[in-house]
Amino acid sequence: MPLKLKPLKYLLSVLTLLAGTQAATAQGLFGFPLGPQQETLDPMEQLGRELFNDTNLSTPPGQGCVTCHAPEVGFVSPNFFVNQFFGPHFGAIPHRFGPRKPPSAAYAGDSPDLRFVADPAFAVNWEGGVFWDGRAAGQLPLFPESDDSPEFDPLAEQALFPFLNPVEQNVANEKIVVRKVAFSRYRRLFLQVWGRGSLDFQDDEVVARAYDRIVTSIAAFERSSEVNPYSSKFDAWLAGEAELTEQEKLGLWLFENPFDGQSLLTPNEDEGRTAFPQGNQGKGRCGVCHSELPGPNDEPPLFTDFAYHNLGLPKNPDNPFYFMPRRFNPDGRDFIDRGLAPTLETIGQPDNWTPSGAITSWQEEIDNAEGRHKTPTLRNVNKRPFPGFVKAYMHHGGLKSMKEVVHFYNTRDVPEEAWGEPEVDFGNITGGIVGDLGLTDEEEDAIVAFMATLSDGYQSPPSGPQLPQLPQLPTPPSPPSLPTLPSPPSLPTILPFP
Ligand code: HEC
Ligand code: HEC
Repeated sequence: MPLKLKPLKYLLSVLTLLAGTQAATAQGLFGFPLGPQQETLDPMEQLGRELFNDTNLSTPPGQGCVTCHAPEVGFVSPNFFVNQFFGPHFGAIPHRFGPRKPPSAAYAGDSPDLRFVADPAFAVNWEGGVFWDGRAAGQLPLFPESDDSPEFDPLAEQALFPFLNPVEQNVANEKIVVRKVAFSRYRRLFLQVWGRGSLDFQDDEVVARAYDRIVTSIAAFERSSEVNPYSSKFDAWLAGEAELTEQEKLGLWLFENPFDGQSLLTPNEDEGRTAFPQGNQGKGRCGVCHSELPGPNDEPPLFTDFAYHNLGLPKNPDNPFYFMPRRFNPDGRDFIDRGLAPTLETIGQPDNWTPSGAITSWQEEIDNAEGRHKTPTLRNVNKRPFPGFVKAYMHHGGLKSMKEVVHFYNTRDVPEEAWGEPEVDFGNITGGIVGDLGLTDEEEDAIVAFMATLSDGYQSPPSGPQLPQLPQLPTPPSPPSLPTLPSPPSLPTILPFP
């Protein structure tokens, strides 16, 4: 497919975008305030909130975590133009792009360390980690060899990278980040949380620890009730405090995992069972990977298996990463997003790794990871400030609507649909449960409607006693009609000049 934007045109649009975003950062795009500080946050979470929202922590200043992970859209990019025309979001230097779209920074705190699952019954071998490719694997120690005991946390580990990433916040080194925090208006809060001397940027050892404190605080915020409120209509329905519409229930019915013998609609929702044909339960197969069931200890569903799959998505031809200089993208337009594979190359063969199924060597394990990306949560996947606001979906942001995503799952393998060559094909593309689902148009819409119930901030309609009918107001008396004015005397006819 030809690239839709020529470099110059693309540069111009970037500049236009930038003009829009500078104003957007403090306020949230479209002037939505970032929301009042929640009193329920403890000091550590509040500190994380300050750091997350601080757009001074970039070079040049202007970009913070919140720029690419904004609450009003479910902690992804709030930039309409980026979502519509690119997918990936630009960095603090606005003509620099990474290869991927920001996934949600919410509901990410339960992902375990990246690990090999040695269970032959398990169709996927790797789970956990943070980032689309799991490279924040939970293997980097925070607070190593200090009085604080070393900690491993993939979510905090993730936050080590954006500040220093040249295609993101672009700060030259940790010391500059710490220095900026030391001169911030939340400096006192930092010292209150972490103690005196915890921000001393003159001392290299303290700088390294201060940087660990920064990312630990951010992870605390990302795990807080403000970022993970579980306040969607779906959650209210699970708690018996809201009703799903017939269409939303049908969507859930089609969405569910048909192989686990469970349904959220039975037995407590008998009407769901009878209203929709039994054979259609799980027809969309979505729940196989985006698990809709509560956890073993009744944790609310997160709609992800934390595992990695190659869905056979075609490339996003509008991905600006193809234009990036060799320093960032040596492959130019031939760039292939290998997903999990390079992560496995980096972490190396774990002790518990064993050959399984068709895979007989570690190299084959890596090959099998090519093009696999982590299943994202679907919470807030439809959260948008107004109905026409475009969000970008999948790791490269190439799909632009929920309907398009469902249609892809439904028809990827239907030749007439011509979805295009998969970006990566190592014989590991998920088949069977994805690709030709035979969903009707109405069924696709129902799945979309169900996913729309996963947006936080649901306000249940006011219940309680019916308000008394207001008495009819008497119709005001009609004003008295004005007396008709006498018509003016007719003017004498002017005689035409002779
Ligand atoms: C320029 C845009 C941008 C900025 C700024 C940014 N991110 Fe991201 N974020 C991304 C992209 C793109 C990814 C996916 C990268 C990948 O998978 O390779 C991502 C991934 C993540 C994830 C992983 C979610 C998951 O489930 O895998 C978290 C969490 C996150 N970012 C938090 C942060 C924090 C915290 C900051 C600030 C320190 C930040 N981001 C700054 C774009 C951004
Ligand atoms: C085989 C596992 C699997 C199945 C089955 C599956 N998904 Fe996904 N889903 C994924 C993975 C993996 C991704 C990310 C893929 C990528 O970007 O390469 C994804 C991405 C998505 C996204 C994009 C989210 C975002 O933030 O960009 C949506 C929406 C989605 N899936 C909905 C569905 C629906 C609806 C169904 C059922 C019709 C479904 N999925 C079935 C694994 C699966």
